[in-house]
Amino acid sequence: MQRSWEKRLAAKPDELTVNYVESLSYDKRLYKYDIVGSIAHAAMLAQQKLITQAEFRAIEKGLVEISEDIEAGRFEFDKAAEDIHMAIEAALIQRIGDPGAKLHTGRSRNDQVATDIRLWLRDEIETLQAAIARLQAAFVQLASKHTNDPMPAYTHLQRAQPIVIAAYLLSFVEQLERDSVRLKNCRMILNASPLGSGAIAGSTLAIDRKSTAEQLGFPDIVYNSIDAISDRDFCAEFIFDCALIAAHLSRFAEDWILFSSHEFGFLRIDDAFCTSSSMMPQKRNPDVLELMRSKTGAVYGALVAMLTILKGQPSGYNRDLQEDKIHVFSTADTTAKSLEIAAAVVSHTTFQTKEIRAGLDSGFLDATALAEYLVQKGIPFRKAHGIVGALVAQCEQQGKSLGQLSRAEFQERSSVIEADVYDSLGAVNVVRHYVSAGAAGPEQAQQQLTFWKKHLAES
Ligand code: ARG
Repeated sequence: MQRSWEKRLAAKPDELTVNYVESLSYDKRLYKYDIVGSIAHAAMLAQQKLITQAEFRAIEKGLVEISEDIEAGRFEFDKAAEDIHMAIEAALIQRIGDPGAKLHTGRSRNDQVATDIRLWLRDEIETLQAAIARLQAAFVQLASKHTNDPMPAYTHLQRAQPIVIAAYLLSFVEQLERDSVRLKNCRMILNASPLGSGAIAGSTLAIDRKSTAEQLGFPDIVYNSIDAISDRDFCAEFIFDCALIAAHLSRFAEDWILFSSHEFGFLRIDDAFCTSSSMMPQKRNPDVLELMRSKTGAVYGALVAMLTILKGQPSGYNRDLQEDKIHVFSTADTTAKSLEIAAAVVSHTTFQTKEIRAGLDSGFLDATALAEYLVQKGIPFRKAHGIVGALVAQCEQQGKSLGQLSRAEFQERSSVIEADVYDSLGAVNVVRHYVSAGAAGPEQAQQQLTFWKKHLAES
């Protein structure tokens, strides 16, 4: 394997160096993007008469063949080539000779790799957005079965207020929507062509950067050649966006690990998405969700790695930037896999509505609604809060729920409490009474469902 720069150095690189500097083992997955970028570059060189049309055709044919060979697994990757850019260029020169040697005119690996990673991310972001949409659809589907089924909502993991199951499920759909919007913004920011920025300062040859940008579907070019080859802010942003997806998935996983436990018994994940124990025969373990929670750590780690790679580099290209791909790729892969299995888990889970209902009378989920009942009777909220607090303490002592108090007991605490109070008590009654926008009742859940069904069908 001939290295493009080998005339410069007196000695061949030591084997240790070869292994340490190579990125081919992981950047080969950029090959398609490297090849389309090279074809666009060569077409532009021909337009600008820097190479002939015949040379362009030879380059294009050679590159297409290399692409087919890589696709078919026939291409031999030699790590002495360092990276995918040199591996493809060397193979091209070997196959077509001199025209191949003209391909790198007005170009450097620095602008080449910056182009490849942007092209790759553009597609990957769309793949992730599609995976997010599938997970949202799975939540929507499950939510539409439970617009009237109540469950407890928790704050501080203590029983808070009653909600309908659909409202709980749709909270994830909303988070995921923001994740998708963040990725869209990231794609918009990175969607500019660095190609033609060369090593750092552009070229004395009359290359046409707008032409290559247009051929590659970039709406614009990065205008400053130094910035174009030296920054990877969009890689950090991409990983951050994925880190938030991972955070959302982790919280979802944590909920469902708890909810599927014997203690909660709120839901049952299909056997196909559980594992068992090698020793305890009764076990159905939520390992998929535990791993989803755990993989969030790897994504966070990648974000710290990426930010640290960027920090402290002098302006311009530095080889540090090569390792951006390790973290971008692993993050994209982990996020895609987690989104995919999350959608499958959601589609294969049943809420145990009967069991949930049976437990709704304990925990005073209706206490806030009772305070609001008093407000409607003219009691200032702070006083109402105190009255209900005292009633809850009384019930706790007597082992009762609020709905089990007699009218006389209510009257003792506040004369405004009438027979209609019972209509405001109990989880089922409370969720029916939610009236504020975005509240966790059946009506609002139904409205949100209608919105999401339409929105997801349109996107
Ligand atoms: N493999 C390198 C990377 O991924 C390509 C650019 C190398 N450029 C250089 N001048 N050493 O960043």
